[in-house]
Amino acid sequence: MLADKHILLIIGGGIAAYKALDLIRRLRERGASVTPVLTKAGSEFVTPLSVSALSSNKLYSDLFDLTDEAEMGHIELSRAADLIVVAPATADLMAKMAAGLSGDLASTLLLATDKRVLIAPSMNVRMWEHPATQRNLATLQGDGILTVGPNDGDMACGEYGPGRMAEPLEIVAAVDAALSDGPLAGKHVVVTSGPTHEPIDPVRYIANRSSGAQGTAIASGLLALGAKVTFVTGPGDVAPPRGVDLVEVQTAKQMQDAVNAALPADAAVFAAAVADWHVANASDNKIKKDKAGLPTLEFAENPDILASISQMASGRPGLVVGFAAETTDVIANATAKRERKGCDWIVANDVSPETGIMGGSENDVTLITSEGAEDWPRMGKSEVAARLAARIAQALS
Ligand code: C5P
Repeated sequence: MLADKHILLIIGGGIAAYKALDLIRRLRERGASVTPVLTKAGSEFVTPLSVSALSSNKLYSDLFDLTDEAEMGHIELSRAADLIVVAPATADLMAKMAAGLSGDLASTLLLATDKRVLIAPSMNVRMWEHPATQRNLATLQGDGILTVGPNDGDMACGEYGPGRMAEPLEIVAAVDAALSDGPLAGKHVVVTSGPTHEPIDPVRYIANRSSGAQGTAIASGLLALGAKVTFVTGPGDVAPPRGVDLVEVQTAKQMQDAVNAALPADAAVFAAAVADWHVANASDNKIKKDKAGLPTLEFAENPDILASISQMASGRPGLVVGFAAETTDVIANATAKRERKGCDWIVANDVSPETGIMGGSENDVTLITSEGAEDWPRMGKSEVAARLAARIAQALS
């Protein structure tokens, strides 16, 4: 039930805007109050009169409506709600949100709000699959924006595929989930992410190609289910999600110290690509190109964070999840790794360059548990994250 919940509903300009009318009814049936905002394009698809009649509330549409500013400014409007829902979320609205634009009322509210935002994307299948939209989606998910849909199906434009807006009742369920505490409320999860940088001297270091995309998505997925997340990250390319307890580190040793300091935890997910070695004879000063000849680097082993936490005698997190980035015999190697490290689950993937996984937006994983290997279809890293977060919630319940 959504009694006493206040939803700010932004209706974008897409053919699915007609479903927003039903959504208003469904939300109100469950006790929510709905304040509608209709974009200019949205008003080409549904009339302002039907939107405000169904919501029994004042409709907002113009950023520069002075009466509204006198009654309730756009900042206040963006914060008075318990949740902002964007349905339909068009490619244009998503792009504006991802870029932080604020040229109209809808985008200004979305930029100004301090509340959670749920978007129900709706667009032509090619527009949905376009790298620009997928890039924007990843950015939005990284920012902690919740999504519902789109679904596969016949589209108004005659094509078939993903892009149809989720049905009103699916959106209501997502609203319900967003406003409830979530299955991971009260649980603390530590997530490691990104590469590590192991210094050679004050200006040079050894790194790897991890972007931190998968670890970041996992932290977002856990946050969406209500977890408190400590996010220990090396210097990745992807911005950390909002809402985590952020600990930024450079080296494997620092990462280990940060993980230990973050305990106790109910679960730990080790998605970082931690360097296996550090340079034992790292120089305090920049190594000079001089007559002494080529420098020789000596390596020493780094602490294995996953193994050390998995094998803790006391205070071990209830669920420890490791990753296995392999280029050959993925399942055999990952299964052996699970045993060797002593973790509960391993998320295994093939990071051979031809898979495009390292640094890409998709992942193709196999989940290895004590029950065996479970092959997941290739999907976006945020979908892998959502699925893994749901499994973690199940395991901790
Ligand atoms: O041994 P390998 O590096 O292949 O194991 C990968 C898994 O172990 C990942 O989950 C990674 O985060 C973790 N790991 C770690 N500390 C290390 C090396 C790897 O936590 N020093």
